[in-house]
Amino acid sequence: MNKVLVTGGAGYIGSHTAIELIKKGYEVIIVDNFSNSEPSSLDRIKKITRKDVPFIFGDLKDRNVISKIFESFNDIDTVIHFAAFKAVGESVAEPLKYYNNNILSLINLLYSMKQYNVPNLIFSSSCTVYGQPDELPVTEDTPLKPASSPYGNTKKISEDIITDFINSGNYIKSIILRYFNPVGADISGDNGELPQGIPNNLLPYITQTALGIRECLNVYGNDYDTHDGTAIRDYIHVSDLANAHIDSMRYLSNKSAPFCDIFNIGTGEGYSVLDVINSINKFLDRPLPYKIVNRRPGDVEKIWADNTKAKNTLNWFPKFNLDDMTSSSLNWEKKFRGTL
Ligand code: NAD
Ligand code: UD1
Repeated sequence: MNKVLVTGGAGYIGSHTAIELIKKGYEVIIVDNFSNSEPSSLDRIKKITRKDVPFIFGDLKDRNVISKIFESFNDIDTVIHFAAFKAVGESVAEPLKYYNNNILSLINLLYSMKQYNVPNLIFSSSCTVYGQPDELPVTEDTPLKPASSPYGNTKKISEDIITDFINSGNYIKSIILRYFNPVGADISGDNGELPQGIPNNLLPYITQTALGIRECLNVYGNDYDTHDGTAIRDYIHVSDLANAHIDSMRYLSNKSAPFCDIFNIGTGEGYSVLDVINSINKFLDRPLPYKIVNRRPGDVEKIWADNTKAKNTLNWFPKFNLDDMTSSSLNWEKKFRGTL
């Protein structure tokens, strides 16, 4: 069974992926510097899986940190690389912070993987690389648009770095997963998204509004060319997304798998902001308070995935629908705040 290093494993997607890996019997090692997470995340992984996960506190910007991990656990064969900064607005204000963290960490990781002969890498990319596509749904061959933020650019550059590195003859295999909009929480309600401060993303803002922590949700624009005027995204349950990494690992172990491949990870369904509000309202005693405000600068109008390639090649199939996503997010928020 593979031994897997999960970088950024204390974060939102990394912790859910660690849980799915452990449930399926993989040996997991986590490295994180808690720059956007808390040690309590490791307790939640333990509570759900009843397993202690080896944890290394460290910053991937320091190559020695990674080298030491590969020296101590000498049979790691896969790295799932989540560790990165991800706040779009902050990346516009502090681009160097984003290029330094996201790019340097990846370069350090690739150097160390080469040095220690670690053969497999799974990388977290984003649908942000497509910008506002001319045609929908987007396939992996849809032309990429210039990034609308330094954060988005770090994902595009990272994809290029991985591809160039592998094409130069390094015997590492990699899968790049372009996530659509990850939402939702572990089915137990014991692990979920924990944004710091005021949430930027839709689902945590909605669940905090539902619990009265925020007064009202601002819906950014209702004059888009969509069925109800609000913007459309492809929301994907975080546990389905987590399992896409495990299916990718299985695929990489197949000798005929190419050295580098890219997959869209979304459900293939697009939902508007009002669709998401209607979904959460099914689980609330009173309708969610919201008001329509101006569009948010930099937002795309609509995007959803063609996920045929992931289904056919990785044998990955999302199980959860929009109601599962909103209800699991709500359940987690209630449990975390002690109101359940
Ligand atoms: P997150 O912030 O919850 O998790 C990232 C983790 O990485 C955090 O625990 C943070 O402390 C850690 N980290 C950051 N820099 C580090 C460093 N230099 N050294 C060690 N640890 C470091 O984010 P997430 O939502 O779980 O996202 C995981 C990955 O998926 C990121 O690469 C992100 O860009 C990508 N992604 C996320 C989304 C999304 O909507 N959440 C969408 C597309 C892509
Ligand atoms: C954003 C980033 C994307 C990143 C992702 C995860 C941009 C342009 N894109 O995606 O690069 O990968 O976060 O971190 O920032 N909305 C509201 N009110 C809110 C919050 C959101 O109406 O309070 C709307 C947005 O306008 C959007 C939808 O909800 O239409 C989803 O927003 P969000 O969760 O922030 O994700 P994205 O903007 O799609």
